[in-house]
Amino acid sequence: MVEKKDITRLLFSISSLADLGQEVTSAKSFNDRMKTALYVVTGMFSVPKAALLVYNSNQQRLELLTHKGFKDTAWTNIHVKAKHIKSFSKNEPYSLSKIKTNSFYNPDTAALEKFHTKTFIPLFAKDEFVGAICLGKRLSRPSYLQSEKNVLKVVANHIAITLHNSSLFRRLTNKVNENKKLYEDMRHIYHDTIQAFAAAIDAKDRYTRNHSYRVAKYAVAIARELGWKEKDIETIDVAGLLHDIGKIIIDSGVINKGTKLSLSEMSEIKRHPQVSYDILSKIRFPWRDLVHFVRHHHERMDGMGYPDALQGEELSDGVKILAIADAFDAMTTDRPYRRKLSLAEALHEVKNCLGTQFDSRISNVFFRVLQKEINGETKKAQILPHFALDKGFDPTVITTLLETITAELSA
Ligand SMILES: [Fe+2]
Repeated sequence: MVEKKDITRLLFSISSLADLGQEVTSAKSFNDRMKTALYVVTGMFSVPKAALLVYNSNQQRLELLTHKGFKDTAWTNIHVKAKHIKSFSKNEPYSLSKIKTNSFYNPDTAALEKFHTKTFIPLFAKDEFVGAICLGKRLSRPSYLQSEKNVLKVVANHIAITLHNSSLFRRLTNKVNENKKLYEDMRHIYHDTIQAFAAAIDAKDRYTRNHSYRVAKYAVAIARELGWKEKDIETIDVAGLLHDIGKIIIDSGVINKGTKLSLSEMSEIKRHPQVSYDILSKIRFPWRDLVHFVRHHHERMDGMGYPDALQGEELSDGVKILAIADAFDAMTTDRPYRRKLSLAEALHEVKNCLGTQFDSRISNVFFRVLQKEINGETKKAQILPHFALDKGFDPTVITTLLETITAELSA
C-alpha cells in the first residue's frame, strides 16, 4: 500500500524534475544551467555537499564542472580508464562502499571520499560516458529508497543528455573554428599569390607600375562607400589586382610602345580583357563575380567598349566601379604617349565622360570618397596616397563637380 508521505515525496520529485527540465534547457550559460541543475538535485534529496563532474575523454579524467558545499581549490581530477567505464552501470547510483569494491577505486579515486561523496552516479548519454554526479551525506535518511533511486536515474539521464549536447556543441564549435582558420590561411595564401600575379602583370608595363594595386585600392574605396558586403569588397579587390592579367600574352613591345599604336596593335591590346577572363575562369576562385568584373572592365555606358559592347544598365555596379578606377589611374599616371593629367584635369575628364564612358551614380560616389579623403573625414585614405595633389589644388573643384553631378542625377 502506498503511504501518503510516499505520494507527497513522489509529487515533490515530479515537481523537482520539471524544474530540472526547465533549468537544463534555459537560455542561461552552460555553467549556470549546470550549477542550478545540481542545486535542484541536492534540494530534492537534502544533500548539502555535491559535485558535478564532466569527463574529458582526451585526458581520460573526470574534471570538476560545478559543486556545492566545499571549496573547489582542494579538487583533484580523477582518472578513469576505458576498462572502468565498461564496468559502470549507466546512470545508476553507486554507494561509496560499492564503489570501493570496483576496480575503478584507487588512490586517485579516493579523492571522492575527500570530497564527502557518499553516492556516485556515472553519467551516460547514448552509450557515451560524459561525467558523474557525486552526492554527499543526506540530511534525512542516509540511504536511498528504490523509488528515490529511480528518480535519481531520471535526473542522471537528464543531466547526462545536457552534458552530451554541450560537448557535441563544443566539438562542433571547435570544428567550425578550425575550418575558419583553415579558410583564413587559404585566403592569405590566395591573396599573396594574387599580389604576386599583380606585381608580375604590372612589371610588364614600365609606365604603369603598381597600376593593378592602385585600381584595386580605388575600387575597394568606392565599393565600401556604396555599402557593399565584405565578401563582395574582396571580390572587387581581387578583380582590381587581376583585371589586366591577360596582358601577359601581349608583346611587351606593343605595351611599352612610346608612339601611337597601329590598328593591329590596338586590336592586339584590346584582346586582354577576354584573355584575362579565359585565364581566370579556369581557376575555381571563391569570388563568384570576379571573372565577370574582369571581362568587362573596358566596357562603356554608351556601348562603345569591349569585348562585348555592353551598354547602360547591362553593366553591373562592379564593372562600372572597375571601369572608373582603371581609367582614373590611367589618367593620373604618365603614359608612353602623354604626360599624366593633374587631379583637377582628371576629375573634369571624368565629368565630361559621364553617361558615355562612366556611370554618373558611381562617379558621384567616387568623387564623394575623394572629397572625404581630402577633408580628412576617413580613417585611412585609399585613393589620395597614390598621386600627388596638384600644387594649389582647390578642393571646391570636387564640391562643384559633385553638386553638378548630383543635380543631373536628380533631374
Ligand atoms: Fe585593362
